[in-house]
Amino acid sequence: MSWTARASGGLASWATPRRPWLAWRRRQQQQQLRPGPLASLGRLCLGGAWPRPIVDMSYSRHFLDFQGSSIPTSMKKLVATKLSSNFREAVTLRHVPVPLPGDHDLLVRNRFVGINASDINFSAGRYDTSVKPPFDVGFEGMGEVVALGLSASAKYTVGQPVSYFRPGAFAEYIVVPAKEAIPIPTVKPEFLSLLVSGATAYISLKELGELSEGKTVLVTAAAGGTGQFAVQLAKKAKCHVLGTCSSDEKSGFLKSIGCDRPINYKIEHVADVLKKECPKGVDVVYESVGGKMFDLAINSLATKGRLIIIGFISGYQTPTGLQPSNVEILPAKLLRKSASIRGFFLLHYISEYQAAMKHLVEMCENKELTCEVDFGDMSPEGKFTGLESVFRAIDYMYMGKNIGKIVVELPHSVNSKL
Ligand SMILES: NC(=O)c1ccc[n+]([C@@H]2O[C@H](COP(=O)([O-])OP(=O)(O)OC[C@H]3O[C@@H](n4cnc5c(N)ncnc54)[C@H](OP(=O)(O)O)[C@@H]3O)[C@@H](O)[C@H]2O)c1
Repeated sequence: MSWTARASGGLASWATPRRPWLAWRRRQQQQQLRPGPLASLGRLCLGGAWPRPIVDMSYSRHFLDFQGSSIPTSMKKLVATKLSSNFREAVTLRHVPVPLPGDHDLLVRNRFVGINASDINFSAGRYDTSVKPPFDVGFEGMGEVVALGLSASAKYTVGQPVSYFRPGAFAEYIVVPAKEAIPIPTVKPEFLSLLVSGATAYISLKELGELSEGKTVLVTAAAGGTGQFAVQLAKKAKCHVLGTCSSDEKSGFLKSIGCDRPINYKIEHVADVLKKECPKGVDVVYESVGGKMFDLAINSLATKGRLIIIGFISGYQTPTGLQPSNVEILPAKLLRKSASIRGFFLLHYISEYQAAMKHLVEMCENKELTCEVDFGDMSPEGKFTGLESVFRAIDYMYMGKNIGKIVVELPHSVNSKL
């Protein structure tokens, strides 16, 4: 199936016999928006009840998911109720009504949601300091469309698999504007690893990396969600790739995806390895860790080398979100080598996003790219299943245990059959 949206035969409906409250709320909204001359006639005919819109019953199947189960009235979602980088302190599980999609929106039932290092930066309010709790959390998810607005039905239909990259993903259902949805061939967790992690590696290396054959590339946190893609994309550009990680198991994984020199920093000094094995220095660094790792990466740059700041995870759990670094001597160090540092933040490259995703999904489908997913099977309490396990999944990441992208599955119970 192609990447482009499938043709849709779907139309919206706002009523279902199994969700009378939903139909009532929608009808109320319609009346408030468009009272119209027939409204009073409707009320007269129905003895004071709201009139029945022409479209409602004939398209009621659009309130049903494609397996024939109805949408429940309430759902679970995670809400930040306090600002803290301690996710367990900041975030609470709440039961809330399932949201209603507007005319241009899709209601998506989440099947998988992705964990990101920055989930704790978001819960700490570091993304937008003007936002106050309570607010929704979670950056990315995928699932099926279970209801949609009339305008959204021009491109989408009920049952269609979609993914998205927007705040509020840690919920059983989410409203996604159709223009922001990313159609996917199937609901496969591997595709989820591309939404933030894959796209970050792809766009940053393409725009800032200036990779070419024979260059030396260092990837830090290389066996993680985004690191795994940086390693593989640098290999595709015929570079010599070194990657840092914290265990022999991760080193084995890195070898399996083509990394020339995994460095387990728990047993080897990264600076010594680089000095010995890359005497001319490193041309490009994809740096995610910060603190001491950032300092040693700067010291290891080659003449005209460049370091791309992807993140600084070693600081995220501190009150400031930062780790001390030797920045005072940075100008002298960079000047001496004509080296440079560039920051990269995915949200600033949204214009590149759709094209990047198209290419990444194609590579993933053609098995040109390994999209390693970690469901937490090896974590102390087992697989990450259900929204409650998001807390465990974040702990697992910050213990440095994950290999590949951490994904939480949200299984759903089929409530009723029609
Ligand atoms: N700029 C952007 O737009 C953007 C987008 C996505 C991600 N990122 C950044 O990319 C980095 C990785 O994020 P991710 O979501 O893909 O996570 P991830 O790499 O899947 O997981 C984080 C990894 O970092 C290492 N780590 C964890 N805690 C650490 C600590 N306290 N000190 C040092 N290393 C630690 C661990 O690997 P080891 O075995 O190597 O220790 C861990 O497995 C983060 O810095 C994140 O902010 C940036």
